[in-house]
Amino acid sequence: MSHSPVSDLVLRDPAVAEARHAIDQDPTRPAKGYAAAMDRIRIRGGHRLDGTIPIGGAKNAALTLMPAALLTDQPLTLTNVPRLADIDSMIALLSQLGVGVNANLDVAAPDRRLTLHARAVACATAPYDIVRKMRASVLVLGPLLARHGHARVSQPGGCAIGTRPVDLHLKAMEALGATITLEGGYIEARAPSGGLKGADIVFPTVTVGGTENALMAAVLADGETLIENAAREPEITDLATCLNAMGARIEGLGTNTLRVRGVPRLHAATHAIVADRIETGTYAVAAAITRGRLHLQGTRRGLFEAVIDHLQEAGVAIASTETGVLVDARDHELRGVDVMTKPYPGFPTDMQAQWMALMSTASGAAMITESIFENRFMHVPELARMGADINIHGGSAIVRGRRRLSGAQVMATDLRASVCLVLAGLAAEGETIVNRVYHLDRGYETVEARLAACGAEINRLRG
Ligand code: UD1
Repeated sequence: MSHSPVSDLVLRDPAVAEARHAIDQDPTRPAKGYAAAMDRIRIRGGHRLDGTIPIGGAKNAALTLMPAALLTDQPLTLTNVPRLADIDSMIALLSQLGVGVNANLDVAAPDRRLTLHARAVACATAPYDIVRKMRASVLVLGPLLARHGHARVSQPGGCAIGTRPVDLHLKAMEALGATITLEGGYIEARAPSGGLKGADIVFPTVTVGGTENALMAAVLADGETLIENAAREPEITDLATCLNAMGARIEGLGTNTLRVRGVPRLHAATHAIVADRIETGTYAVAAAITRGRLHLQGTRRGLFEAVIDHLQEAGVAIASTETGVLVDARDHELRGVDVMTKPYPGFPTDMQAQWMALMSTASGAAMITESIFENRFMHVPELARMGADINIHGGSAIVRGRRRLSGAQVMATDLRASVCLVLAGLAAEGETIVNRVYHLDRGYETVEARLAACGAEINRLRG
């Protein structure tokens, strides 16, 4: 790969060389090359945030709503679509499958509109090159099987937060009558000649993606499907609401039992994506960690009650407003509060790393237990480089808080780890450089601009 003389100079920096080596080893690196992959974020910490941050549509809702477009030959229009690298990856995948895409995701666009029109399924393969970058690609499996009767999806490999199998997705498809074979790194799924048949699906573990795939496959199946121990995340309720608007018959929204009465076809619909509860929680922590105040606009507290409860217990004031949620930690002494991650409505695993950054600056100790994913403490050694006092014991981490972290060169390994390092940098004394921010770009839109507008000293150093 060629690079400019300027980047030659940069590459002599051992920290940059280390980052480049890590990027080489990372299957989720962007295809655009090193320029984007080498972007870094520089933060000079210690500024109290004060201002308003707009919260966008939920990435994880968009990533399941978009494949739902495969279920009908009529257009599905989504609004409040966030502008993120993962959305681009899903657009690329759907385009390869033959879906017509009409996007107006400009920052200035009033409703961030994306119209997906799957007149016919041109190809039923989700290739390795897209799946390796984004595991959510597996969410085309259910819709393709239901509509097209066949799907070929690259098996998602291991990732930075554990092995993350898809066995429960496959068992759900089999329960609906599909035949599954694994060959050459691909999942090959075929519906019986008469199409999928309604069935009882009992998930032994709560799985968000598994529930989404099962739901999307069941809506066009013949007869009734009961999905038990279903995940209850707001993104699933959003998917079910959209599917019902497309003509599906799903009951039990928001509960752990979904009843689906199959229909022969779905039709066009327009759906506004629910606010991103993880983005909301992340900026709530940004306010707390800088002992500042942020108005989070376009969201609501009902989406992240567990995070709010923990923030309040730590000493942060939270209030609903007409347009969002106000988070105020000015002049508050924050206390350590234990957390255990759980499926919704419990404390989200996607907020665990951010919580750890916050607890590193609270007074007293906090025990943080990760019960959803193995190996989701990759941010711990990086936080330790910033002076955090954290000890890991199996699936738990003990954080002993201190008032000040110190800026350092750190490296992100996944999306939430990367934002946790940005949060730590906001609170740290001196300069923090976060490497490999392409992880951040997968899930946080214009994060530097939003934080800078509220008083943070933060900017992006282009690779
Ligand atoms: C989704 C979210 C992710 C979030 C996670 C848990 C998207 C695009 N991603 O991921 O941000 O962190 O929910 O809230 O929405 N499992 C199996 N077999 C399976 C499927 C899952 O053993 O077939 C296990 C996983 O390894 C994990 C647990 O179940 O330990 C929960 O995973 P799951 O809820 O499926 O996560 P994702 O849908 O991949």
